[in-house]
Amino acid sequence: MDPEQTLEEARTRILACADASALKDIEREYVGKKGVVAAMLASIPGLAPEDRKEHGQRANRLKQSILEALSDRREGLARQELDRARRADDFDPTLPPPRPERGSLHPITQVTRELEDLFVSMGYEVLDGPEVELDLYNFEALNITKDHPARDSQDTFYCDEEGQLVLRTHTSPVQIRAMEGRKPPFRVIAPGRVFRQETTDASHDHTFYQMEGLVVGENISVAHLIGAMKTLLRGIFGRDLDVRLRPGHFPFVEPGFELDARCPFCENGCRVCKNTTWIELLPCGLTHPNVLRAGGIDPERWSGFAFGLGLSRLVMLRHNIDDVRHLLDGDLRFLEQF
Ligand code: PHE
Repeated sequence: MDPEQTLEEARTRILACADASALKDIEREYVGKKGVVAAMLASIPGLAPEDRKEHGQRANRLKQSILEALSDRREGLARQELDRARRADDFDPTLPPPRPERGSLHPITQVTRELEDLFVSMGYEVLDGPEVELDLYNFEALNITKDHPARDSQDTFYCDEEGQLVLRTHTSPVQIRAMEGRKPPFRVIAPGRVFRQETTDASHDHTFYQMEGLVVGENISVAHLIGAMKTLLRGIFGRDLDVRLRPGHFPFVEPGFELDARCPFCENGCRVCKNTTWIELLPCGLTHPNVLRAGGIDPERWSGFAFGLGLSRLVMLRHNIDDVRHLLDGDLRFLEQF
C-alpha cells in the first residue's frame, strides 16, 4: 500500500462528504482502532528491522494529514451552515442581542412616588427623618409622656443604655422636626420606614412603612382635613369615595379620628371590607396645642391637621396581598410580579 495514494484517496472522499456523520465514518475507517493506519502500525513487527522506523513515521504522518483534512472539512461545513442560516428569510440582522434582565421598583416605592407626586401637586413639601430617633421626638414632644399608656402599644427597640434613642415607631416625629425647621403656614408629608416590637403575623411586621402628613396654617379645621383626604383617595383609587370619621385617640391630636372610606372594591360588601362597605383608611386629627408648642409654634395663632397613612397596608389593599411579611422578605417569586 502506498501512503501517498491512500492520503490522496482519503482527501477526495473527505471533500465529498456533505455532513458530520459521513466524516465520522471516514475517520473511523482510516484512523480508528481497526482502521488503515492501525493496520500499518500492526504490520511493523513483520518488517526488516532497518525498515521499521521509516514505516512507523510514514504511518503517523498519514494519520496527522488525514486528521487535518477532516477538521478542515468540518470547519467548511459549519461555515456553509451559518451562511445558509444568514441567507434564510427569517434571519434578521437588525435584531438586538438579548438584554440583561432588569429589576423593577418595589411596590412600596411605587406607591410612595405616586403619593409624593400627588401631594407635591397640592403644594406639600416632601420630608425625610431619621429612623433612629430621639425619644423626645418619637414620644415626648408628641404629648406621649414616659408613663403614657400609648407607649405600650408602640413598644420599640431602645438603642442606648439611657433609653434616649429609639427606632421610631411612626413617622409622626417628623412633624416636630418640620415645625422646628419652618414658619407657618406650611404643608409637609414624610414617607418612611418605621419599627415596632411586634410578634409578627400576616398583618403585623416589626418593620413597615407609613406616610405622615402635617398642615399648619390659620383657622385650619376638620373640613380642610376631609378635603385633603378626599383628594388623596381620588389619587389612590382614581375616583371620588365617600368618607366618614369615627373618634380615635392619639395623644398628639385633638380631636382625633379614624377615617374610613367607602369600599372601592364593592357596592354591597366583600371580603376586603369584611362586608361593612367601609375600609379603615387612616388615623388623623387636629394637631394638639401641646404639640404645636413643642414645635415652637403659637397654638393661639396657628392650628393644623395631621394624618398617618399606612403605606404597607395600602400596598396590600391595592395588590390584594394577604401577608405583610411578603413585602420585606426579598423573595424574587413575589417581587417579580411588580
Ligand atoms: N402616628 C400614628 C400611628 O402610627 C398615626 C397618626 C398620625 C394618628 C397622625 C394621627 C395623626 O399610630
